[in-house]
Amino acid sequence: MSTVILRHAPQAFPTLSVTPLNPTFAALVENVDLAREQSEHTIDLIRNALVQHKLLVFRRQRITPSQQRDFAARFGPLHIHPLLNHDADLKEIIVLNYDRSRPPEKDEWHTDVTFIETPPLGSILYGAVIPETGGDTLFADLAAAYAALSEPVRSLLDGLRATHDFRKSFRASTYYGEDNVKWDNARKNNPPVSHPVVRTHPESGIKSLFVNEGFTTAIEGLNADESQALLEFLIRHQAKPQFVYRHRWQAGDVLFWDNRATQHMVVADYWPQHRRMHRATVLGDRPV
Ligand SMILES: [Fe+2]
Repeated sequence: MSTVILRHAPQAFPTLSVTPLNPTFAALVENVDLAREQSEHTIDLIRNALVQHKLLVFRRQRITPSQQRDFAARFGPLHIHPLLNHDADLKEIIVLNYDRSRPPEKDEWHTDVTFIETPPLGSILYGAVIPETGGDTLFADLAAAYAALSEPVRSLLDGLRATHDFRKSFRASTYYGEDNVKWDNARKNNPPVSHPVVRTHPESGIKSLFVNEGFTTAIEGLNADESQALLEFLIRHQAKPQFVYRHRWQAGDVLFWDNRATQHMVVADYWPQHRRMHRATVLGDRPV
């Protein structure tokens, strides 16, 4: 695989090394310490690499929640999740912490927070505690999945919209039932929204599928059978192995993915081992 070295004057700018990890997307980014304040130039390089590669992997990082928040905020305003646990002092940092006493919940393919009008442009996930085995995260390239469809199917999808509803993933289950007021407020503040089935990336201009198993409930304007059949087809299609990169975590990894062109899921196979992740979520614009 080729390595793209972006060289700049050594005093003014660090050297950022970007190495593709998979045929269509995902790249390893080296020579940057995310705990430090980054120059505007480095932020631009990372933003461009994110658009080009859709998933950036930074290894051997050591960042506090506030450092993670500060880094994420360089890319846009941050989303505060209505339901997931957050850091005690920083609402912008979601803490996903599972161990013997709290088994991981069943996961499914999703793109983060598509249940709002302006879903996130990206998420930044830090691996604080990583199990010896298991707990990998799968990512799928939804631009490659769209491009692999036949022209007649792409034409059909181009004109369609779909409904996204946070209740599909965050059910009023036994777990949330213990905290029903919070769940009920989240439901009231997040009514179902409509997004195009195919979105055009605001920076690259490349089209991607934009439905997901986690939050998409229906394709609008179709009858129920048609909607269900088409959604099931798309969900199965976009999870095919040729579109998927599987990340095996090491403690200190930071992953930054583009929610406008990918979906992901964690493999919940590591219980009763401990896994703790910190996530910052950068808001994006209205999909078109
Ligand atoms: Fe997620």
